[in-house]
Amino acid sequence: MAVLSLEHVDQIFGQGSARVQVLHDVSFAAEAGTLSLIVGPSGSGKSTFLTIAGGLLTPTKGAVVVAGNSYQARSPKAREQLRLGSIGFVLQAYHLLPYLTVEDQFALVDRIKKSGNLSHTELTDLLDQLGIANLLKKYPAELSGGQKQRVAIARALYPDPAILLADEPTAALDGPRVQVVGKLLADLAHTRQKAVVVVTHDARLIPFADAVFEMTDGRLSRVQQ
Ligand SMILES: Nc1ncnc2c1ncn2[C@@H]1O[C@H](COP(=O)(O)OP(=O)(O)OP(=O)(O)O)[C@@H](O)[C@H]1O
Ligand SMILES: [Mg+2]
Repeated sequence: MAVLSLEHVDQIFGQGSARVQVLHDVSFAAEAGTLSLIVGPSGSGKSTFLTIAGGLLTPTKGAVVVAGNSYQARSPKAREQLRLGSIGFVLQAYHLLPYLTVEDQFALVDRIKKSGNLSHTELTDLLDQLGIANLLKKYPAELSGGQKQRVAIARALYPDPAILLADEPTAALDGPRVQVVGKLLADLAHTRQKAVVVVTHDARLIPFADAVFEMTDGRLSRVQQ
């Protein structure tokens, strides 16, 4: 069964002459244990899609269902709970807090979500898997782009969400580093049974995906591999 689905989603921004339809009748489903990749050029609607999938934006039309629950049917507070418990985000800018060490980025999650986070041992295993266990005392400014990105991935996974959404996780990475991140995202899906959904313009990630979709002018289609 799909952990995350979008059903006939339209997104329209603006009104009158400024009205622009960014998503057209988008339907999508992601299963646990799979890496889904959505590729498309700049401006095609990828970030809008991910923002709606993550419940940060309510679509103009259509439904988003997470673990059997529709966002629309819930109050803003219940929606927040669903998002906090089920979804990890890796945003393009990483969103690490500059004045907190890596270890305190996780402690902050504990304050926001008090239970159901990874145990100390599970977190240590995850940091080892990501190759960042030695960075706990460092501040974001002391990390390379690739290290920041892996910390952001760890932080998104720390609350143990069923779904991981990532926006352009390989932006500004060189070839070998793209391979590492592609393998990592696929491994996270396969070994931790997450539904991992990545939007990107980076075709180099395609070989790692279990399912590939193409976004063209706000229309989503499945690419047969
Ligand atoms: N809040 C908004 N108000 C009006 N238009 C918007 C808004 N957000 C996005 N758009 C428009 O929607 C279209 C799709 O934007 P989106 O950010 O989803 O594209 P993208 O595929 O993620 O692009 P990129 O690869 O550059 O990140 C663009 O034309 C953008 O200008
Ligand atoms: Mg984008």
